[in-house]
Amino acid sequence: MEKNLLKYMIQEQKVLLEYGNVKGYLEIITDEIARVYIETGSEIIQTGALCDDVFPSGSFEVKEQDGVICISTPKMIIKVRDELKIDFYDTDGNIVCKDFDGKRTQKNRLSELDKALLEQEGHSASEEEEYHYTVIKDLQNIKAFYGLGDKTGYLNKKGYMYEMWNTDNPDPQLENFKALYKSIPFLIALTDTSCYGLYFDTSYHSYFDMGSESDEYYYIAAEAGNIDYYYIAGENISDVITGYTYLTGRMTLPQLFALGYHQSRWSYASKNEVREIADNMRKNRIPCDVIHFDIDYMENYKVFTFDDKRFENADEFIRDLAKDGFKVVTIIDPGVKKEEGYYVYEEGIKNGYFVKNPDGTVYENEVWPGESVFPDFGNEDVRKWWGGLHEKLVNKGVRGIWNDMNEPASFKGPLPDNIVFRNGDRKTSHKEMHNLYGHYMAKATYEGMKKYDKRRPFVITRACFAGSQKYTTAWTGDNHSLWVHLQMAIPQLLNLSMSGMAFVGTDIGGFGSDATAELMARWIQVGCFSPLFRNHSAMGTKYQEPWRFGKEVLDIYRKYVELRYTLIPYFYDLFHECEKTGIPVLRPLILHYSNDKEVVNMNDEFMVGENILVSPVVNQGQTKKLVYLPEGKWYDYFTKELYEGGQYIIKDSPLDTCPIFVKAGSLIPKYPVMQYIGEKVIDTLELDYYPGEKAEYIHYLDDGESFDYLEGKYNCYRISYDGENAVKEYIHKGFERDYKDCIIKNTCTGVVKTL
Ligand code: GLC
Repeated sequence: MEKNLLKYMIQEQKVLLEYGNVKGYLEIITDEIARVYIETGSEIIQTGALCDDVFPSGSFEVKEQDGVICISTPKMIIKVRDELKIDFYDTDGNIVCKDFDGKRTQKNRLSELDKALLEQEGHSASEEEEYHYTVIKDLQNIKAFYGLGDKTGYLNKKGYMYEMWNTDNPDPQLENFKALYKSIPFLIALTDTSCYGLYFDTSYHSYFDMGSESDEYYYIAAEAGNIDYYYIAGENISDVITGYTYLTGRMTLPQLFALGYHQSRWSYASKNEVREIADNMRKNRIPCDVIHFDIDYMENYKVFTFDDKRFENADEFIRDLAKDGFKVVTIIDPGVKKEEGYYVYEEGIKNGYFVKNPDGTVYENEVWPGESVFPDFGNEDVRKWWGGLHEKLVNKGVRGIWNDMNEPASFKGPLPDNIVFRNGDRKTSHKEMHNLYGHYMAKATYEGMKKYDKRRPFVITRACFAGSQKYTTAWTGDNHSLWVHLQMAIPQLLNLSMSGMAFVGTDIGGFGSDATAELMARWIQVGCFSPLFRNHSAMGTKYQEPWRFGKEVLDIYRKYVELRYTLIPYFYDLFHECEKTGIPVLRPLILHYSNDKEVVNMNDEFMVGENILVSPVVNQGQTKKLVYLPEGKWYDYFTKELYEGGQYIIKDSPLDTCPIFVKAGSLIPKYPVMQYIGEKVIDTLELDYYPGEKAEYIHYLDDGESFDYLEGKYNCYRISYDGENAVKEYIHKGFERDYKDCIIKNTCTGVVKTL
């Protein structure tokens, strides 16, 4: 690369730069966000993850001195120096994110003798990977990395290496896995003094080495494309998430029922089985809103069909379930069975909607239905067609769609790089579209459901990309009933949450392998706080419904599902906040306590919003838990004992007890226990008060299912209480079904205040 600056030019929001024959630009998107674009010989391609309404608009000034370009916005300073190295400073002039001075060093894993022997045997002895480009940043001031979407391992990603390449790998997923089903090329770096985010807008196979190769630098590399990333400045993690979700979008509010409990299994393969599950839920008084139909509801795994023997009169059956408060979610995979006369196959073939071999023939691989073909979801016409296929399901009463196998998974080897896909109007290849496949499938599903059902679509996906939160929720795929997977669920969901995906969950109890009674009891204690609250297990594993493990576990299970149902309005308020700011429902402690070094690596505790701290037991045989309480005062949720924060405590945690704490000075809204959302009419707003300093709480209310709230049909209240004086005021009043009463209950004294 040429060393020195040849010229620069300001063009609207861009500062165009030329260093010899290397061209690039910095584009000021907002005062806090800058795009870095450097040509590396590819076509200009953006992934489509960004929101359509992101218009560069930040204010900035440019100066040049001694060949260094200095761009200042009200929130950051960017300096571009020789060799097109870019450093980001805060407005006080402290360096925050610095390009690394120097080159990558060899990995140093092979001795000279190893290398000689390898070469002698005709193998390569090179330790450097061949990447199309590499962006190398200084690691010196970095305490931790978070985000990166759905990765295995721990909360803090520093020291690990990951890849962005959506992968379906059924082996038990351990911390050495480089890639899982989702690719979200976004990281948050917590530095000694502040915080920043980097979003790499590339769908190509990319590599995120977070300091595994070196303790001096970290790097991001990709197999193709131009260097195209967004720097997001922030004083804290929340600011960075808000910036990132400004770029890539936020989800609209979920339907309220989706926050309830979901029961699933691969598979409940007949109406009788489903009916039995539903009846057992009610008989055992386990609140439940949703039952999932896995692949066996279909005829020979043909998507958009129902097996007409095992699911005869599915419409009527789904209507009956609805009378008892159950909603049905059906799985839809992308692989379309190659079968003459099957309408989905025929329509797709006729219109050229499936991805193709370079010679123009339709590409085939194998998935559940055997020989299958794959819709080309990057093409808008295909998405419209696919969305349209959902009309039939909506008419049958299906309330949500579960998208699976959309990496895309394929049983006869991976799709070759050169399979022909479309991205909008452009013809391209699998190499570019692989990581976007699940994203566009979810988009097609969302748009189809929105069109036919009209309500806020409920979509779950396994594979996705940055920005998929606009269309879908996600689950973490095929985990196992292993304690290590219960442990991993916490950092996995927290990092996904920090990567824009706030509505997430793991298969509660574990998908593969057999759950023990103890594991099940502990998993529900974590699961009841995950936004997506679904128990799911694989065919051939031990049945995993709540009543399969004896009375003790059933009672424990009920206790935590009931707890979740009482907290539904709290969760819904958090989703309302998330829609406005991107701040997720589940949060690592570091998000609120960024100066507390105890929580940088906190893997086994999390926050639900700002008020509730959960420190579950995630080890076999453990009945005492070491709990860290950050600054402030904290109430034990069950006993109401008050603890001083800033210390570790040991909590007795017998099998039925999950340590849960509520911040002193909190108001928490609650619902009565219901067997499903809507079973009872809620006309009293009830809040629990945990005494402390004056508590203030924002509560949100709407119809819980339609898009009317976007037209102002909602109420938003500010409630404050200091133990004596209570105030309830409207921030917004637009929803006619208002509460009749409001009561605040002091959880310590039992005193009730009526407003
Ligand atoms: C995949 C999914 C799993 C599902 C199974 C059968 O393994 O990840 O959740 O049950 O396919 O559809």
